Amino acid sequence: MTDLSTLEQEIFSGFANIKSKTELENFKIEILGKKGKLSKLFQDLATIEKDKKKEFASEINILKSKVLDKFQNLTNQFDQEELEKKLQDQTVDVTLPGTNRPQGKVHPVSQVIDELTSIFAELGFSVAEGPDVENEYNNFTALNTPPNHPARDMHDTFYLDESKNLLLRTHTSPVQIRTMLNGKPPFKIIAPGRTYRCDSDQTHTPMFHQLEGLYVDQNVTMADLRGCLDYFLKKFFEVDEIKMRFRPSHFPFTEPSAEVDIGYELKNGKITIGQGDKWLEILGCGMVHPNVLKNAKVDPSKYQGYAFGVGIDRLAMLKYGINDLRSFFESDVRWLEHFGFNANDVPSNYRGLSR
Ligand code: DAH
Repeated sequence: MTDLSTLEQEIFSGFANIKSKTELENFKIEILGKKGKLSKLFQDLATIEKDKKKEFASEINILKSKVLDKFQNLTNQFDQEELEKKLQDQTVDVTLPGTNRPQGKVHPVSQVIDELTSIFAELGFSVAEGPDVENEYNNFTALNTPPNHPARDMHDTFYLDESKNLLLRTHTSPVQIRTMLNGKPPFKIIAPGRTYRCDSDQTHTPMFHQLEGLYVDQNVTMADLRGCLDYFLKKFFEVDEIKMRFRPSHFPFTEPSAEVDIGYELKNGKITIGQGDKWLEILGCGMVHPNVLKNAKVDPSKYQGYAFGVGIDRLAMLKYGINDLRSFFESDVRWLEHFGFNANDVPSNYRGLSR
């Protein structure tokens, strides 16, 4: 018969040598497994004389519970050590200086579109959209520019599929037609977007951006147009006064038509917008031609309105002092880092447009 106190000593000196949870688990099998040293004792019980059986059984049970306690304690100890090690590996020193993550910037064109949207929203304009791939009817014919009209040549159009009359829109004016055909007057929209012409030099790129404006109602006048443009230009250039003149011009889709110039001056190579004795052409506008209204299913005897078109890239160049348009579309990260805007500074009229 096994001597219990010797066994106990043997087991506990075994415990003393255990250094890991895996070792502990193996040891547990050695002692308490099916063929373990302690389990074996219970088998021995069968061979013991009846009167000693009870006493021996209670002694083994005492030993077993001591051993189980020790196992539990060691398990807890190893778990605790493991947790502490994990926490140590994951510590963050909050007193260390932060690292700059690479940050995206908002392109000046997107910035200017946001600024314009904010300004015109205040005047009650909503944003309308049209596709870059347009049909010839919306881009020209409906805008009172029939085939063979000389204005078509001036646009240097990219035709995509002549048989289907598809082209890349040469201006945002077709959005006027789409908007009016899709709704009922009054209309008060702006339409910013991409436009395309086969042209490339320092101030022209094959793709550029325009913003179209359209306001049609029963008593819209040219004075309203002037007031709207004056407000928009002052807000956009963030100046209190702006010198502005309407110069008679011609567009097929407006009658009368005008080009708008604003005053500026150059001092030490720096341009100041709003004042000065020089004139800068900034946009085209006019009263919507009755033929355009008719083509868009709006009754010209009841409704009239104004329209304007302005180059977004040009506005960005003027406001932010960028002098080569081509640089806008070269995707040079250093350029964007320099001229781009913080994505969190959404332009708003009351908080400031470009600050
Ligand atoms: N669509 C013209 C262009 O691209 C610009 C323009 C002029 C738009 C007068 C208008 C307008 O709405 O009334 O050159």
